[in-house]
Amino acid sequence: MSKDISTELMSVCKRRGYIWPSFELYGGVAGMFDYGPLGTSMRNNILEAWRNIYKVREGFIEIDSETINPEDVFKASGHVEQFSDYMVNCTECQLPFRADHLVGNFCENPDTMSPAELEKAFRDFNIKCPECGGELGKIEDFNLMFKTTIGPGSSRIGYLRPETAQGIFVNFQNLYRYNREKLPLGVIQTGRGYRNEISPRQGMIRMREFNMMEVELFVNPEDKSWPRFSEVQNGELTLLPNDTDKTVTMTVAEAVDKGVIANPVLAYFVYTTKQLLERVGIDTEKLRFRQHLKDEMAHYAADCWDAEVLLSYGWTEITGIADRGCWDLSRHSEFSGADLSHFEMFDEPKEMTFKKVVANHKKLGPAFKEKAKDIASALESETEDNIFDNKITLNINGERIVLTDEYFEVREVTEKVNGKRVIPHVIEPSYGLDRIFYSVLEHSYFNDEKRGYSIMKLVPGIAPIKVGIFPLMDKDGLDVLAKKIFADVHSSETPAYYDDSGTIGKRYARMDEVGTPWCVTVDYDSLKGPNKGTVTIRERDTGDQKRIPADDVAGVIRQLINGKEFSTL
Ligand code: GLY
Repeated sequence: MSKDISTELMSVCKRRGYIWPSFELYGGVAGMFDYGPLGTSMRNNILEAWRNIYKVREGFIEIDSETINPEDVFKASGHVEQFSDYMVNCTECQLPFRADHLVGNFCENPDTMSPAELEKAFRDFNIKCPECGGELGKIEDFNLMFKTTIGPGSSRIGYLRPETAQGIFVNFQNLYRYNREKLPLGVIQTGRGYRNEISPRQGMIRMREFNMMEVELFVNPEDKSWPRFSEVQNGELTLLPNDTDKTVTMTVAEAVDKGVIANPVLAYFVYTTKQLLERVGIDTEKLRFRQHLKDEMAHYAADCWDAEVLLSYGWTEITGIADRGCWDLSRHSEFSGADLSHFEMFDEPKEMTFKKVVANHKKLGPAFKEKAKDIASALESETEDNIFDNKITLNINGERIVLTDEYFEVREVTEKVNGKRVIPHVIEPSYGLDRIFYSVLEHSYFNDEKRGYSIMKLVPGIAPIKVGIFPLMDKDGLDVLAKKIFADVHSSETPAYYDDSGTIGKRYARMDEVGTPWCVTVDYDSLKGPNKGTVTIRERDTGDQKRIPADDVAGVIRQLINGKEFSTL
């Protein structure tokens, strides 16, 4: 599909109420889009498919946290320091560009290049400003978070969240308690994320305000199994591991056995992602999972596989499945002082040799007086993992207390213990909802030369309108029967569209273009003669037609949505 197709598709989407560029009244803002009525419905349908897999099938819990977060959260998460892209301004027209995007046609893996390497590439390949041909300036680090203040004045800095994930990590204690202090603990969240992209140019692929569907699965790092693994082990994956430039196709079990995806839990969710994407209408022939290069990985990731789809823009990431290790909980524990560990109970007490934090009562007493007892007991439930720069940070009744190593020592002991504390690791399938939405549209869009117009072959579960209902003529009682069928279909909670204007051909074309899988027409045969009481039902992709009883339309449409073959009607 050529780039022109994305322009053509966006024009259909705009005309038919899927997507509108935001603020067009005021000249528009790059990287911002509004969803129209059909787009909103289709996006909600994708969201429901995601919920059905994660919330219903996997039994994960869903939360909804704030989108504005205080600075502390993103200092701990690493985003204040590390969530940036390299920016370069044109010295003449002053327009800003993402430095790695400018060298994309000349260098491999530009997003792994350092500023010095990028500047050298500008010189070597004589790269100039793409807008005016001017000289490019110096490369700067540009933090992608939108900064704000919380409350009047500027004392409390906040940021619009760049990912929904942090809302889950900062609620870990609440979630862990809710889950009766057990692992695995799967939590999902959907909502807006915000990234102040330097120069977004790829339509819905790079939005400044975007919709995410994130899953944070907290696991015991020593537990490398997943209860439902056997259900997916024979499923096929197309993988592009980071030590080769060729894709390989193998089963989930093979990928784990050969160490291609080392962690079976990660592998399970790579396959789950394939299932979800296929279910919403991504063409799996144009889907691959690419492992991040070591120096491409986000600051929090130990391993990461991107689901990439082939679009008119080239291979494009629409989902990332990352092993975030203990990064998030360790950092929030370090920065807040809260205990974010899990206590793994053994089946029976075990004698173990381990490193234990022992409080120095002699120092704590004089320094902390009446608080010393609480501090000592909190200290002794810490693990070695919580010592950063020889310090332990505690949170005692909301007060953050940083203790240097004069207040404790780490001793190797051999003791009989009931269990042990671990910082849970996080597996994160993170879905870009808008990118999935756009990719589904591109993969469903076909120019039908015979019909002379374009068809959107959306899968029925995702299509915003399931059935178009038409009276052949808006008179003679045809309209009365068509309106009755329309009411029946709506009573069965199936979205339908009533259309009585223009020729039948035009009405079919309108529904084909927005992806409606079936149309029902009431004609004169519906009112008299041997076919009295029946209507025609037409299938979008084949144009085939059948007659079914008018009273059965609502039920038949539900059956078709649930997978019944049209040819069996
Ligand atoms: N939470 C994953 C991401 O921000 O991309």
